[in-house]
Amino acid sequence: MPEIAYVNGEFLPLDRATVHVEDRGFQFADAVYEVVRTYRGKPFATGDHLARLFRSLEAIQLKHNLAAEQLTSVINEAVARAGFPEAIVYLQITRGRARRHRGFPAAGQPTIVLTVRELESSTHLRERGVAVITVPDTRWMRCDIKSVALLANVLAYNTARQAGAHDAVFVDPDGTVNEATAGNVFVVVQSSLQTPPRGPRILSGVTRDKILQAAHAAGVPTAEQPVAKEQLYSADEIFLTSTTAEMVPVVSVDGRAIGVGQPGPVAARIYEKFIRMFAQM
Ligand code: PDD
Repeated sequence: MPEIAYVNGEFLPLDRATVHVEDRGFQFADAVYEVVRTYRGKPFATGDHLARLFRSLEAIQLKHNLAAEQLTSVINEAVARAGFPEAIVYLQITRGRARRHRGFPAAGQPTIVLTVRELESSTHLRERGVAVITVPDTRWMRCDIKSVALLANVLAYNTARQAGAHDAVFVDPDGTVNEATAGNVFVVVQSSLQTPPRGPRILSGVTRDKILQAAHAAGVPTAEQPVAKEQLYSADEIFLTSTTAEMVPVVSVDGRAIGVGQPGPVAARIYEKFIRMFAQM
C-alpha cells in the first residue's frame, strides 16, 4: 500500500514530496501541526484535532483561508488513497515560502503538508509497560500550541533512549510534572486518576480528553490538578496518552518501580472503556 503525501493541493507518493528550502517551516519552525489516527480506516476525532489546529494557527497569527470541511476532506481522501486500516496522518501548516527574515511576510500563502503512513500497533507497550526518566523541562512557555518546534522534545526523548528508557517526562524546577515528549501523563493514586491541568506547560491532548471521559464512564474519579515529581514515585499506577500510542502504562520512573512494577488494573479498565467508547464505533 502506498504512503501518501499531499503538498499544497497535490497528492503524490510520500518519497516524492518536497517543500522549498526557503519555507518558513524549515527556516524557523514557523509552523503548527496535528496528528490524526484512524481506526479501521476511519479518521478518529478529526473535529477535535482541527479545532486545536485552528487554535494553534490563531495563536501564532498565521493567516489562512482554510476551512475545517476542506481539511477534513483532504484527510479523508488521503486516508482512502493510502488504504491502511490503521494509519497515522500528519498535517503541517507553515507560514509559507519567503525570503529569510524574522518578520511575517507581507504576502504569501501558507504551505500545507499532509502525510499518511501505516500506524504501528502499541499493544506490546501496553502489555509490558515502559520505563521513563524525568528531565528538566527546557521548553518554551507555549506548549499548548502544537508547534513543529520540537527540538527540546527530540533531545529529551533521546536522553531517555540513551539511558535505556522508553521516554522522558518533563518536570519544572519546582518539581511540577508537565508531560512526556509526545504524550500526556496520568497518575493513579488510591483508585483515583490525576493529570496536570490544561495550561501553557502542556499540550492538552485529544486522547487526554477521551481518557478522562472513559475514566468517568468507568466510575474512576478524576482530577485535573498539578502532579508533583514525588507523586510519580509513590503512585499506584502511571500511564501516558497520545494519538499514536493511545495509552501506555509506565512501570518505572528514574529506575524506581511504580506500584508492583507491572501495568496496573485501573489503567487496563480505563483503556478497555476507551476502546469501547471511541475505537469500536
Ligand atoms: N504528539 N503532548 C505532547 C508534547 C505531544 O506531542 C502529544 C502528541 C500529546 C498528546 O496529544 P494527543 O492526545 O492529541 O495526540 C501531548 C503527537 C502524537 C506527535 O507529535 O506525534
